[in-house]
Amino acid sequence: MPSLKTCVPCPGTYLLLNHNSVFSNSYRHSHSVPSAPSPQLNGKTSGRISATLRTEQKRHGRVMRLGPDAVCIYEAEALWHMNAARSTYTRGPWYSALRFDPRGDSVFSECDTAKHDRRRAKLAVGYAGKGLLDLENKIDAGLADLVQHLRARVVRGEATMNIGGRLLQFFQVDLISTCGFGKAWGDLADETDHFNYLKEGDASLAFLHTVSLSPVTRIIFSSPFFLKLFGPKRTDNDGFGKSLGFIEAVASERFREKEESKGQADDILGSWIKQGLSSEECQLDLAAQMAAGTETSITIVRGILLLLVTSPTIYMKAKQEIATAVRDGHVSSPVTNAEATKLPYMQALLWEGTRMMPPLTLGFPKRVPAGGDTVCDTFLPAGTDVYQNFGAMLRNPDVFGDDVDVFRPERFLALGDPDAVARMRKTVDLCFGHGRFSCLGKTLAQMELNKIFVQLLRNFDFQLADPEKPWTKASYSTFMINDFYMRVMEARLE
Ligand code: HEM
Repeated sequence: MPSLKTCVPCPGTYLLLNHNSVFSNSYRHSHSVPSAPSPQLNGKTSGRISATLRTEQKRHGRVMRLGPDAVCIYEAEALWHMNAARSTYTRGPWYSALRFDPRGDSVFSECDTAKHDRRRAKLAVGYAGKGLLDLENKIDAGLADLVQHLRARVVRGEATMNIGGRLLQFFQVDLISTCGFGKAWGDLADETDHFNYLKEGDASLAFLHTVSLSPVTRIIFSSPFFLKLFGPKRTDNDGFGKSLGFIEAVASERFREKEESKGQADDILGSWIKQGLSSEECQLDLAAQMAAGTETSITIVRGILLLLVTSPTIYMKAKQEIATAVRDGHVSSPVTNAEATKLPYMQALLWEGTRMMPPLTLGFPKRVPAGGDTVCDTFLPAGTDVYQNFGAMLRNPDVFGDDVDVFRPERFLALGDPDAVARMRKTVDLCFGHGRFSCLGKTLAQMELNKIFVQLLRNFDFQLADPEKPWTKASYSTFMINDFYMRVMEARLE
């Protein structure tokens, strides 16, 4: 059986991305991979993973070697195949780096396929917003709070605000906690990062990215022994640990109420309790949900906001579509999800915005099954981990055309070639993963995206506070956006 080294003989970019991390030197020597990368390839300190991966993938081709047993790819057909409902691929051990609690795995970090399938089936009902749970109502309430909050600031004469740096994150944390367990963390009301959850996330992002990509650090940092000694604790006074303590208290109270037969609450936790998950399982998955659901959607929202305010013609078209829909009575107040999906320019804007500003860069590897498999015309031996390169996938000229670096929602309007547009949409949809491993929060995320720009643009206009330096943005496995100040102006469409 050929080894991966002979199948894909290119340098270990994975090591380049991490060459400054504590363990990479010994790793590099033991596998005789070429060294001496340029400083900006260093993921831990450069924060330029997204651009680096795109450039490197262009250089190395359809299958790029990341390490001794790892490659990354970007072609949609191969990603659909690996992640299909009946795929024999399994999750690679990268997922174990998402473990944060010595008590066990969340659905996100579970690598055993059978266990993952069982857990996922139980969680899915709540995530889909079935039964008592009305996700749309909760999103509407969250958006109403956001609009009211912005309006109050404008009225107070505080129109210039760090809306993209923190304010929208506060809104998102409140939204996800409300959908998850019926209680907003209350970040937006006093614009406070309660538990310093976001601050700790920013501080640990580069480190976690590095840990997740190196097999040695991954094994150490995700072991129950290490997590017990050094991981976040529910008794912590601050940070992620404190949020775990908060979630434990909420879940315990709910399970007590269940014993007392007080009925089912209309949130995701309520649905999970009904599905028979234990208190501990609910806690692990609520904490994973907070992490998975906060930075992802809101990165797209902030990205689209920047793209809009820096593209006046597109801003005007979006605004005009909303104004016409409001005037003609085609959208309610607040806009319903069904109405929003019938606004063609808005929908094109969301597809294109997600393509240009995806929330993820690299990860989610699937392991090649026994016997190996041919991926993008390259044979990969069993046990190879195949990572998804999001940036290269979303700027693939074969799918999106030669002007992939240009923000142009019109490419998603099915004016010319409907098949080509359908392929573009299906490719962008891979941002949520696919098939048996796809994102559980997709319904919630899409509903929020469908609504948020309609609600914001029917109430306000936005202008960059500093057009020469709109924000600071760094990319690791996900993105970190800070100092994104805007001037918000009242502009109500009746
Ligand atoms: C635009 C926003 C979002 C994007 C692009 C996104 C993307 C993804 C991706 C790529 C995966 C992994 C797929 C794989 O393993 O192959 C995933 C998994 C997951 N996402 Fe999302 N996500 C988003 C929003 C959310 C939200 C809002 C929530 C929760 C409310 C959420 C909860 C989850 C969970 C629980 C999983 C694990 C699923 C499993 O293990 O089977 N996501 N998401």
